[in-house]
Amino acid sequence: MTGKMHRPTPLIIALVLICGCTWIEVTHGEYLIGLGSYDMTGPAADVNMMGYANIKQNAAGIHFRLRARTFIVAQTLQGPRFVFVNLDAGMASQLVTIKVLQRLNSRFESLYTQENVAISGIHTHAGPGGYLQYLVYTVTSLGFVQQSFDAIVDAIEQSIIQAHQNLKPGSIFINKGDVKDAGINRSPSAYLQNPAEERAKYPTNVDTEMTLLKFVDGASNKSIGAFSWFATHGTSMSRDNKLISGDNKGVAARLFEDWFSSQSKPSFPTINNSNIDQLVTKAQAIKATGGKACVKETSQTSKVRKNNGSLFVGAFCQSNVGDVTPNVLGAFCIDSGKPCDFNRSSCNGNDQLCIGRGPGYPDEILSTKIIGERQLKTAVDLFTSASKELTGKIDYRHVYLNFTDIDVKLESNKVVKTCPAALGPGFAAGTTDGPGAFGFQQGDTEISPFWKIARDFLKEPTDYQVECQKPKPVLLSTGEMFEPYAWAPAILPIQILRLGKLIILSVPGEFTTMAGRRLREAVKETLISSSKGEFGEETHVVIAGLTNTYSQYVATFEEYQHQRYEAASTLYGPHTLSTYIQEYKKLAEAMATGQKITGQGASPPDLSSVQLKLLPGPFIDSPPDGINFGDVKDDIAIPKGGYFTKGDRPTATFWSSNPRYDLLTEGTFAVVERLEEEKWIPVYDDDDLSLFFKWNIDNSSSHGLASVEWEIPKDAISGVYRVRHFGSTRKFLVPTNQYFTGASSAFAVAVL
Ligand SMILES: *[C@@H]1O[C@H](CO)[C@@H](O)[C@H](O)[C@H]1NC(C)=O
Ligand SMILES: *[C@@H]1O[C@H](CO)[C@@H](O)[C@H](O)[C@H]1NC(C)=O
Ligand SMILES: *[C@@H]1O[C@H](CO)[C@@H](O)[C@H](O)[C@H]1NC(C)=O
Ligand SMILES: *[C@@H]1O[C@H](CO)[C@@H](O)[C@H](O)[C@H]1NC(C)=O
Ligand SMILES: *[C@@H]1O[C@H](CO)[C@@H](O)[C@H](O)[C@H]1NC(C)=O
Ligand SMILES: *[C@@H]1O[C@H](CO)[C@@H](O)[C@H](O)[C@H]1NC(C)=O
Repeated sequence: MTGKMHRPTPLIIALVLICGCTWIEVTHGEYLIGLGSYDMTGPAADVNMMGYANIKQNAAGIHFRLRARTFIVAQTLQGPRFVFVNLDAGMASQLVTIKVLQRLNSRFESLYTQENVAISGIHTHAGPGGYLQYLVYTVTSLGFVQQSFDAIVDAIEQSIIQAHQNLKPGSIFINKGDVKDAGINRSPSAYLQNPAEERAKYPTNVDTEMTLLKFVDGASNKSIGAFSWFATHGTSMSRDNKLISGDNKGVAARLFEDWFSSQSKPSFPTINNSNIDQLVTKAQAIKATGGKACVKETSQTSKVRKNNGSLFVGAFCQSNVGDVTPNVLGAFCIDSGKPCDFNRSSCNGNDQLCIGRGPGYPDEILSTKIIGERQLKTAVDLFTSASKELTGKIDYRHVYLNFTDIDVKLESNKVVKTCPAALGPGFAAGTTDGPGAFGFQQGDTEISPFWKIARDFLKEPTDYQVECQKPKPVLLSTGEMFEPYAWAPAILPIQILRLGKLIILSVPGEFTTMAGRRLREAVKETLISSSKGEFGEETHVVIAGLTNTYSQYVATFEEYQHQRYEAASTLYGPHTLSTYIQEYKKLAEAMATGQKITGQGASPPDLSSVQLKLLPGPFIDSPPDGINFGDVKDDIAIPKGGYFTKGDRPTATFWSSNPRYDLLTEGTFAVVERLEEEKWIPVYDDDDLSLFFKWNIDNSSSHGLASVEWEIPKDAISGVYRVRHFGSTRKFLVPTNQYFTGASSAFAVAVL
């Protein structure tokens, strides 16, 4: 019955002596499980953010750090295993995947390959760009940015190594539940194009379900991590934001990991009214330190959450996110305050005036936090109550497909084709999360003569392409553009991972809600109908969005007719979704019947040698005469009462050097320190939501400035504090970095 009895499982039983008198059985595990996590925060200055394609949106500081979070599951040491990596990045990148696989190959040989590694992006729009290889995705970053790319590849590799080294027997529990108010459909008029009887099967026009896996160590029976999947865009932070951020999913992960570790944290003494004066007096006596040389490790040892290789890992993964926005109050015209045009998301024909509002509107940082907390709440509930243990095989199937011209057999038996990639004018219009260029609207099915001339100057689409993509008018025939190298992907990986009764579909793009539902159902049906009872109704299918590579959107055939943003960005024509369904069914059938996939298909190209790299490196910078890097420019402004309290925002600004000289990986650019027994203890760093590290240039002198702002959180405790900055620089003709640090004067915080 249970499947557990008739195949080898790593049921390992160990005996441990408890209090010298009782032997109990403690180690139990269906699988081998390993978790890992590593800092992947890219350059915090000058680099364009990936997502909105806003040429003016260059990084200038950090809201909180980005991480790569990984789990590995194995049946046995020799048996099947797979790796799932969740990236705090806009999306996976083909080139990143290629490089990671090369590194894994040189380290682990054929243990980890394209077939059993999945790398999935959370879809934040607040991470440094330039790490993708196809030209369309690196236009606003001025081409490829080596530093962005390396930060991501290194972090994935390190997190996989950790997870690999942590592999131990354990159990996995699965739980499901709804997330409230964390997403609405941003193209409801497109959703309405889907057949009424199909829509009637679902309560809403977005998927509200979160699926969570809880990983429990077999020896200690303690949880070591959790991964969840839920669909909502990483667009709580706007197209004007300059701070690196994991957006709402990054917030949820940060808070989830903190929630877990706080369960075992000691509580601190609080201060009463009679000794505030003492705090104020004490703080007044401590002045800013001035900038001092230090070593790179000074930043790392000051980090609050040190990565010793066995952190609790909590990840919030992306799903069929295509038409789901976290800006849940709806979209309104910024001129009139009225709702935008329903079909076109514009205001009197102007797409740029129609903007979605998050729950913290107009405060985007607050919106990000609220949407993160809504996911967190469900995750904590699911984690705490998870009791259904996953059992059964680990398995996977993967294939590369050239989406340029695949034959698809429709239900009517008619055979149609995919097309070379192309974008329509609805793409240029952008969305209510971030409008695009002026003069376009979502739903456009014509291109103005002016834009036709502009388009033809770049590349006139072939007649075949124009016909194939209909009703999408071809604005950019990216699949036919190869100068100086490919503008869009042609080869895409598709992958199915199996973890007992859980099926994970790694899709290389953003499926809309209904597209995702159709794919999940088709795969489930195929698994059930093709297997001899191994898969049943309890088979649970999740979509892992933006995985392994990126190819924009996948809308349903009906949504495609409407040509809103998601449809205009569905690259391979009206039958893109049908093609995915057809090809996934083949993988599902192979899995259900135990067949291998013969031939992996043509591999995607590695374009690293031909990438344009037009972003200049940081210029050699120096502090003003008589000043050291790390000196305070503007010290903390002590309020009238002599102390700060929760909600206040003490800020210090330091003379500094471009943060691109060293990313201070697994370190920090800033900390808030508290004086405890005459020692400064770091208590908040640039990975905390309450601390803002901002990079700026002093306009009068062109020197660099680093501001550290601390919004004193509700749970801060009274005491004497200071803020401190870490940085690095490079001198002319000196090949190595020099590191520096400086602290503000002290200040009292009283939280009563
Ligand atoms: C492990 O801990 C859970 C609660 O966290 C408990 O219900 C379960 O019985 C424990 N299992 C073992 C084998 O101790
Ligand atoms: C307040 O703190 C002072 C010094 O730490 C202590 O002597 C006093 O008893 C405290 N008062 C109260 C009401 O807790
Ligand atoms: C890492 O740190 C955690 C939390 O501080 C601790 O529980 C664990 O034992 C440490 N692991 C190692 C390998 O040092
Ligand atoms: C949206 O377009 C549909 C046709 O596709 C039309 O029937 C409907 O009236 C339009 N709705 C609004 C609010 O303009
Ligand atoms: C994909 O297929 C098209 C059409 O058959 C072909 O021209 C193209 O070279 C293929 N692309 C790659 C990267 O192999
Ligand atoms: C310098 O000018 C820019 C653009 O006007 C502004 O955004 C920035 O805040 C200024 N920097 C400082 C340090 O004032």
